[in-house]
Amino acid sequence: MDNLTRFEAATASEVLSWAIDRFGASFAIATSFQKEGMVILDLASRFTSEVRVFTLDTGRLPDETYGMMETIRKRYGIVVEIVFPEAAEVEQLVTLHGPNLFYSSVQARQRCCDLRKVRPLARKLETLQAWAAGLRREQTESRAGVGRVEREAGGRLKLHPLADWSTAQVEEYIARHGVPLHPLYARGYTSIGCAPCTRAVEAGESERAGRWWWEEDAKKECGIHFAPDGRVRRAGAAEAAAETEASEMHKGFTLWFTGLSGAGKSTISRALELKLRAAGARVEVLDGDVVRTHLSKGLGFSKEDRDENVRRIGFVCELLARNGVIAIAAAISPYREVRDEVRARIPNFVEVFVECPVEVLAERDVKGLYKKALAGELQNFTGISDPYEAPLSAEVTVNSSFETPDESVEKIWATLERLGLVLFDRSPLTHE
Ligand code: ADX
Repeated sequence: MDNLTRFEAATASEVLSWAIDRFGASFAIATSFQKEGMVILDLASRFTSEVRVFTLDTGRLPDETYGMMETIRKRYGIVVEIVFPEAAEVEQLVTLHGPNLFYSSVQARQRCCDLRKVRPLARKLETLQAWAAGLRREQTESRAGVGRVEREAGGRLKLHPLADWSTAQVEEYIARHGVPLHPLYARGYTSIGCAPCTRAVEAGESERAGRWWWEEDAKKECGIHFAPDGRVRRAGAAEAAAETEASEMHKGFTLWFTGLSGAGKSTISRALELKLRAAGARVEVLDGDVVRTHLSKGLGFSKEDRDENVRRIGFVCELLARNGVIAIAAAISPYREVRDEVRARIPNFVEVFVECPVEVLAERDVKGLYKKALAGELQNFTGISDPYEAPLSAEVTVNSSFETPDESVEKIWATLERLGLVLFDRSPLTHE
């Protein structure tokens, strides 16, 4: 982030009028109708009635915030542009983790902020050459270094016209110009975001203490101004905190591998197990071959026995996952109906179809079973003399006839990221 210091000496009005002249409709003010945003909007409206203003409607805003959009239209004649999150992304997130997932972990909260604010903002910014936001250096430590005008990676300019304003200056401006105030300030709020994630502060608390108030030590940022550091840091006293962070990296879920014998379920699931463990997760693999030596000892390969095997594995997966463990099942599980039955019972069920043509498997025949089955020496062998019902809507399909195990692992990992089940890499959007 390149801090354009030549703007430091300019006043807020000068910076704004310059940006409006220079960029016209490619410049917009981003606001959530807090005091700073309103001051910027009021200042800009003195130069032009054409200034563009947009807001991110996360879908969980307080009613009063929607009221502010009406107020602005009446007072300034400005129609606030509303930016929505991608419906499909939010639907998937809340279906998997519940509508109030943000209370469960910092990771979940950041994921929610990411889908509802960070990504929609990035989409909006693609249409702009410059934008303004209300950050002030006084607000928090993480904001102490913000520049009056900054150049973001990619060249877009980000203006913080009020970077050096004090709280008193903001208040004074508002009082002098009768700037409309968000009604929640009168109820003790000092920073306003989504309704479930913001509350009034107590006397003596910091300005942003009411944001994500249940989180201790987490940076009180949604990620639209600072990319939240999702990585585990290990340094001295921070170690204990880092441990907590690591355990928050994932919630329990079930990864269900299905596919023919020899298709690669065990190999891929073991590789994935290692990768998950390396990322700090707790993982258990329930492999068909192993399970049949104890949990399912005595079961054969009739449809009834296979279904029973799958139900038992599913039962253990459910217990593990609800205790925060990632449960990986790797069994042929040839029948769709019982797989779907298990899916319906287990929250966060991710089905992985390990595909491979039976001809390729018969050729590989690691255990020599295909040869026996083809010779008629082994009855009810899946794919040869017993059915295999491929999933109709597996979350992810890998194909071991043309992918390496590593490639399959990467593909599954990407799916877990997409579903918000493991820590995902985010590229910083507006800073760094
Ligand atoms: S499942 O159908 O009940 O899900 P599971 O994955 O536990 O099967 O066990 C499959 C393993 O048992 C195969 O990889 C193979 O080594 C062995 N096996 C022995 N007989 C059969 C058979 N008739 N069909 C499939 N696999 C068999």
